[in-house]
Parts: sequence; structure tokens; C-alpha cells
Amino acid sequence: MKKITIILFYISALTAIQVMAQEFKEKYRPQFHFTPKANWMNDPNGMVFHNGTYHLFYQYYPHDKIWGPMHWGHATSKDMVSWKEQPIALYPDSLGYIFSGSAVVDKNNTAGFGKDALVAIFTHHDPVQEKQKTGKHESQSIAYSLDEGKTWTKYKGNPVVKNPGISDFRDPKVRWFEPQKKWIMTLATKDRITFYSSPDLKTWTRESDFGANEGGHGGVWECPDLFPIMHEGKETWVLIVNINPGGPNKGSAGQYFLGNFDGKTFTSNSKETKWLDFGADNYAAVTFSNTGSRNILMGWMSNWQYANQVPTDPWRSANTIARELGLKTVGKELYLTSVPVKELDALNAAGFSMKHVRVKDQLDLTEKAKNKTGLFRLDLSTENTADFSVLLANEAGNELIVGYDKAANQYYIDRSKSGKTDFEKGFGERHKAPRFATEEKISFTLIADVASVELFADNGLTVMTDIFFPESEMSKLYIKSASGIALDNLKYTVLKSAVK
Ligand code: FRU
Repeated sequence: MKKITIILFYISALTAIQVMAQEFKEKYRPQFHFTPKANWMNDPNGMVFHNGTYHLFYQYYPHDKIWGPMHWGHATSKDMVSWKEQPIALYPDSLGYIFSGSAVVDKNNTAGFGKDALVAIFTHHDPVQEKQKTGKHESQSIAYSLDEGKTWTKYKGNPVVKNPGISDFRDPKVRWFEPQKKWIMTLATKDRITFYSSPDLKTWTRESDFGANEGGHGGVWECPDLFPIMHEGKETWVLIVNINPGGPNKGSAGQYFLGNFDGKTFTSNSKETKWLDFGADNYAAVTFSNTGSRNILMGWMSNWQYANQVPTDPWRSANTIARELGLKTVGKELYLTSVPVKELDALNAAGFSMKHVRVKDQLDLTEKAKNKTGLFRLDLSTENTADFSVLLANEAGNELIVGYDKAANQYYIDRSKSGKTDFEKGFGERHKAPRFATEEKISFTLIADVASVELFADNGLTVMTDIFFPESEMSKLYIKSASGIALDNLKYTVLKSAVK
């Protein structure tokens, strides 16, 4: 009898493990980008580091693969690379759906919920009022957790910021402003940003507006962020504003402004419209809270142009990898840079390096790479600037090309022949991005997962993120250059799956 029980136990444990493994092996399933097991996800929300754990909340609809009444899903990680999905954190209620927002650690117990309480600040979106066209259907609310984000209590005084009559009034990003010992809320208010301040996260005062006449205005402003970065001994404030549509390669994208913030007003130091990422698939990107002097960005790796149609099952959407932000001056302009977080190195497996390689026409790296999965990181630096491209391909004849066009001084990603593209007419296109760096040498880091590439050129001065849907693993790899190019260094690293 006992034996049978033990055997049965083993069989069920084995089946559970196999189910898990199969679940994350579906066609197009990313292996080191966060995806929910099933159903719809959009924006990352409430990203916060607390007691050694990174928390990711996200816009989630648990009942279907398309956008619906929003909840906050939840996942945790020790390294921002391998994520574990947790039970849903916030459910819709009588005030509406739970739209995007942020989370903070209330170290000084300003709100009185408890020392070190996790406080989520989010938008309540009321679908009933939306239908009635009151123009007041979005307001800001708070909830707190005293058990590491497992359970949440919504504040009984919600909403804490009422809508003054602005139809798009959402996505609060809150941070502590130490010089004046107060909280600052950065809120997207249709075609601009409105800053609010508060001593306790419960009562908010409007401080100022920014942006009605600055930056890109090809769509509605959403999901902002505000934080300082120290650069060459000077503090610069970064204001991120996501916009949809109106991105540089159509649809959704993130722009940013650099300047000063004095606790009341943000002033931009440039008139140039700047983009966080020129690819089509990095939206609603904002930074983690409570990470000290590190500024770590993560976005939703999709685009409202086709997010509801991408051919994945049983889930929809992934996040980008986490990226560390910095600043770099080129000529008279200052730019934000982003590079993969160093934690990603945990996935490094076998690989090879080559020095001083001249590529004329084509260098086939498929044999050397011996990589059936197609998951890799490629770091290369050139001796000169010339046309070249990196080609990912498979047995089915799908091709994804990432390259540099010298005449146009542009980087590009061409996904027109990358596999399944017919689910939306604009999907199979070639995306372009300017090169800002002025050095002769190009440095180029490419991170490839099952269904995405992320390009970090010139140490993160130009970044592009694109998803694609190949028929099988992109296990073939070539470097191409018709004009010829000299590579100083080439380092290829196979990446392991982060699915546990
Ligand atoms: C951005 C966005 C947010 C909103 C959320 C709704 O992708 O439209 O502005 O809060 O998604 O899911």
C-alpha cells in the first residue's frame, strides 16, 4: 500500500514537472524574457526592489488572450532575469479596472500603513463613466502590502487624486524627493505631464505641467517616469514619456527629456525629440523603484499596433530584458544610454571569440556557434564604419537582419521575411534608427531570444527592440558585408533558458 502511494506521488510530481517544462516550450515562447503562463499582459507596473527581491506587477487580463478588464499580475525575481509568476495582486473593484502605476517602499511610514510598507499607486479606470463620457473616468488610487506584495489592501479613502475633467489621466509614477522630503507623482495627462506632491501618499497637491509644446505629440502621452542620474559629477533629471501612437517606427514608443527638476517644475535642456528605443517593441518602459543609484528600465515588448494579434498561445506579450541606464554627451547633446544589466551574464553558456576578422561578403558562424536554440548574445566591435549586417536564419528560410547602413548612418532591423508576419499589415517592415556616436568604431551588442532581438549599439546610444515569429529556431548565423568590414573583436555567447 505504502509503495503504491510513493510511486503515485512520484508519477504526479514528474507529470507536474513535465507540464511546467512543456508549458514554457510552446512555439514562440521566450526563454529569458518574462511572459505570463497564460493570457494577456501589457505594461510593466509597480516595479520595485524590496528586501532582496525584485517585484514586477503588470497589466493583466486573466480570462483571455486579448486586452480586457485590467488586473495587476505579479512576478518576483532575485536577479531580474529569471521570474516566478505569483498570484494576482490587484483585482478590479467598484471604482474600476486597475490601470498602470508604480510602487514605492514607504521607509518613513509617511502613509501610516506600516514601516517599509509597499505602497502601490495606480489608476482606477471606470468603464461605466467612460461610456457616459463624463471625461472623469480615470483617477489615482493607492493600496498597500505588508507581506512582500502577496496581499494588498486598498486604501478606504480612494481615489487620492480625483479627475479634474481630463479624459486621459493616468499611469502615476511616484518617487521620494529627498531635498524637500515629499513624494512626487508624475502623471500622464493627455498631451502633457502633470506633477503632484504629497507628504503622505494620500493628499496630493498639483505642482506644475510640462510638455504641451515639447517633444513628440503624434499620440496620447502615457506611462511617464522621473528620476535623477549622476553624470560627470552633475545631477541630470530624466523624464520618460511613453507615447501611442507616434513612435519613430510607428505605433507605441518611449521618448525622454533631460533637464532639471526642483520639486515643483521640470525644465528640459534641449528641443530635440529623443527616443529610448527605436525598435517597434519597447513600450510603457519605466524604471524600478528603490534600486539606489542604479536606474533599471524594463518595457513591454510589444506595440499597440498589433499586440492583440501576435500569434502566440496560450499567452500574449513579453517584457524586454532589464537595462541599466546612463548618460553620454555627444557633441553638445546629452543622451540617455541603455545596456543589458550585468545580471544577464548568469545566462552565459558556451561561446567563442575571434579577433581581427575581415568580413567580405559573408562569414558563416553557424558551425562555430553550434547553437540549436538560437538564444545568444553577440558582442562585436569594428575597426571602421562600413555597411554590415548580422543575419539570423533557420531551416524554414526565415531571415531576420540587423545591420548598419553607412550612407544613411542608420542602424536597422528588417523583419519582413522573419516568419509569420501576416497577422497585421504593418508588422513585416524594416525599422531604422539614427547613429549618434561619432567614433569610427562601431560597438554592437545583440541579444536574441526565441522571438525577439535587442540591439544595443555604441554602448547603448542607439537601442532597437523588435519581436518576430520564426517558423523554427533561428539557429543559423552569418555576418555579411558587401563592401567589406574589419572586425576588431567578435564574441559569441550561447544563452541558457531562464525558465525554471
Ligand atoms: C499603456 C496603457 C496605459 C494604461 C494601460 C491600460 O499601454 O494604455 O496608459 O494605464 O495601458 O492597460
